[in-house]
Amino acid sequence: MKRFLTAGAGVLMLAGTLNAVPVQAEERPPTVAEQSLRALAARHDLAIGTAVDTDALRDAADPQYRALAASQFSSVTAENVMKWESLEPTRGTYNWGPADELIEFARKNRQQVRGHVLVWQNQLPAWLTQGVSDGTIGKEQLRDILRNHITTVVKRFKGKISQWDVVNEAASDPWDTPSSIHLKGFWAQHLGPGYIADAFRWARAADPDALLFYNDYNIEAFGDRGPSDKTWYVYTMARRLRASGVPIDGVGSQGHLGTQYGNYDALQVLEVLDAFSDLGLATAFTEVDVRSQMTDGVRAGDSNEINPRLQASASNYSVLLQACLANRRCLSYTVWGFTDRHSWVPGWFSDPPEGMATLYDESYRPKRAYNVVKADLAFSGPPYVLPRVSQKPRR
Ligand code: XIL
Repeated sequence: MKRFLTAGAGVLMLAGTLNAVPVQAEERPPTVAEQSLRALAARHDLAIGTAVDTDALRDAADPQYRALAASQFSSVTAENVMKWESLEPTRGTYNWGPADELIEFARKNRQQVRGHVLVWQNQLPAWLTQGVSDGTIGKEQLRDILRNHITTVVKRFKGKISQWDVVNEAASDPWDTPSSIHLKGFWAQHLGPGYIADAFRWARAADPDALLFYNDYNIEAFGDRGPSDKTWYVYTMARRLRASGVPIDGVGSQGHLGTQYGNYDALQVLEVLDAFSDLGLATAFTEVDVRSQMTDGVRAGDSNEINPRLQASASNYSVLLQACLANRRCLSYTVWGFTDRHSWVPGWFSDPPEGMATLYDESYRPKRAYNVVKADLAFSGPPYVLPRVSQKPRR
């Protein structure tokens, strides 16, 4: 009885003390809605990134773009300005300005930078592609040019780039001819398959600390693991590169999805991330967006057509993010633009017209996809979602 009384008195006293201290409104923890994506992602050591259009970033008439890029994201990728045609439009003359601007923006806002991209068949300068086609640049010279480009660019940004997309989109698609997946494009054609291992070795020599990624699209889920399964092809390629000691540290899955396609679930996507990380590789989603067809009904504002697309888009963002959260080596989740005001989709997918692919609409109103991403970041944790495991660059 005595013990009960003592304990009871303690509780009463404590209650009295608490009551005496008025609860300050500003002391309550922020609600999920009030938190930024980057604050919520930090709980998992996950970098949440966006591709940045440096023209929009510079545009004084569009301050919201800059404000959201800074406040919501902890990683940035240059949407275009680190591509070869932008960095070296004239042979031997580099244009570092726009890329430096982005790096400075990231420094100010304490953001990581993903380097995109060193070796790709698109957005190459005309002096290079023309030189090769008219024979003034021969095979040995082309190899030297590539080595020189990788070395110059990687050294220039050394210490400022956390992850480099070293080789981008090297694998063909099942709709190409032949339908069995193969190495496609300019570099494979002119240098042969060895250029991939070479590129990783040259990048490693130029920066011992950046994580070096192979990056591609349509590798979210395994298919039948046969000759036309692109995900399987990239997986076996990565396995071979690891087995032969090539300094590849990660595989980036771009994550360009469309609501009109089959779509995946989080467990299918996780299976692929786990397969890569079992090879000792880091993983990342590097260019996530989920577009929809802009039908007449959508454009006329018909909610019967708009709502299911917004919902399906949100669900696809969530599928990729949940899989990433559940794979401890998935280091970053990057969206390819965050607002429909500045998205590559309408310009690239115009027949039939597509759009509505990003987290915010054209007036910077967050869409359902934004809230779903936020909810996934907020409401996940142990035992299946644990902090990231850091990746050591392979020498
Ligand atoms: C796109 C940019 O978003 C566009 O602005 C540009 O005109 C073309 O390239 N895969 C990639 C990215 O790796 O570099 C592409 O970016 C989108 C597809």
